[in-house]
Amino acid sequence: MQRLLVTGGAGFIGANFVHHVVKHTDMTVTVLDKLTYAASREALDGLPADRVSLVVGDVADPTAVEPLVAAHDAVVHLAAESHNDNALSDPSPFIRTNVLGTFTLLEAARKHDVRFHHVSTDEVYGDLELDDPAKFTPSTPYDPSSPYAASKAGSDHLVRAWVRSFGVRATISNCSNNYGPWQHVEKFIPRQITNLLSGGRVKLYGDGLNVRDWIHTEDHSSAVLAILERGTIGETYLIGADGERSNLEVVRMLLRLLGHAEDDVVDHVTDRAGHDLRYAIDASRLRDELGWRPQYADFEAGLAATVDWYREHEFWWRPKKEATEAAYAARGQ
Ligand code: NAD
Ligand code: TYD
Repeated sequence: MQRLLVTGGAGFIGANFVHHVVKHTDMTVTVLDKLTYAASREALDGLPADRVSLVVGDVADPTAVEPLVAAHDAVVHLAAESHNDNALSDPSPFIRTNVLGTFTLLEAARKHDVRFHHVSTDEVYGDLELDDPAKFTPSTPYDPSSPYAASKAGSDHLVRAWVRSFGVRATISNCSNNYGPWQHVEKFIPRQITNLLSGGRVKLYGDGLNVRDWIHTEDHSSAVLAILERGTIGETYLIGADGERSNLEVVRMLLRLLGHAEDDVVDHVTDRAGHDLRYAIDASRLRDELGWRPQYADFEAGLAATVDWYREHEFWWRPKKEATEAAYAARGQ
């Protein structure tokens, strides 16, 4: 496996993954990315030009996709519309990119017999009760609550069907919430960090008791690479690092890291429609079968490093901040 095509490689997780691949393998990487509002060309700066190239194109466009897939040994598919709140305002790009885009890539992988890894989310399983010790496993039934989660669930089902019906050499991973460098300021952690760095207030949906299972994006990258290289074809792997925290707990950590007295700058704003209560991942298959271990086990240390990263990269996030907050304000959030 020498020539890797990474879709969505100019996005948050994709760009971190490309850096990881360049550092830890000798593969060459082509990024296929439409460069939507969520993309950052800058996130690919500094990578060696003889190892990484960028093709600007749409994963739902077969004329762009087919020749590219044919020219590679493997595809890691990350391109997606990824933000739940945007899907509640307008679901249509989620269906086009996440469902039709995955279909378009799978057809090319089928035609040219190219190894395919599909990057998905734990949100396809719906949510768990707050007081339930259960976690998601690979046999948890699909039960997506939101338009974003339903579009990702649809894409997962396509991959499974293409494996079974056409023998496409594919694997799937469903990962929990990522944090780290280059995450768009629309998402929870970067939104609060950049609000506080701007002298603004934290915006918590509802009571803030919803739980997410946080993983550093670097650990997501090492897991995807392990699955790509050593995973069993047709298998689904859940990726998580036992990082369950309520949103309020995360906010309190951020307030401490940024030197605020507890809760003095927190607004409880309009809750998200259909807001999933809790996500939690059982990553035993990944640990037992592939020997994967997370390297960023200390969430508070990872969060502190992320705060420092946003302090140092204001030139990158500042231009995105105003429009993002205007969209939130229009929704009362
Ligand atoms: P992101 O929104 O930061 O980046 C998405 C990238 O895809 C952008 O660069 C965008 O330009 C590109 N893209 C969008 N539509 C495209 C199209 N039609 N054709 C080509 N490129 C297109 O997203 P992210 O947070 O980096 O998520 C990456 C993947 O990981 C997604 O598939 C998402 O569902 C999955 N995932 C994300 C998380 C998370 O916490 N962010 C957790 C689990 C899984
Ligand atoms: P988000 O980063 O949008 O990820 P996801 O919806 O995929 O889990 O949100 C993470 C959690 O934070 C989720 O419970 C919603 C909540 N949230 C807030 O409380 N305030 C915010 O401003 C945002 C964007 C999210």
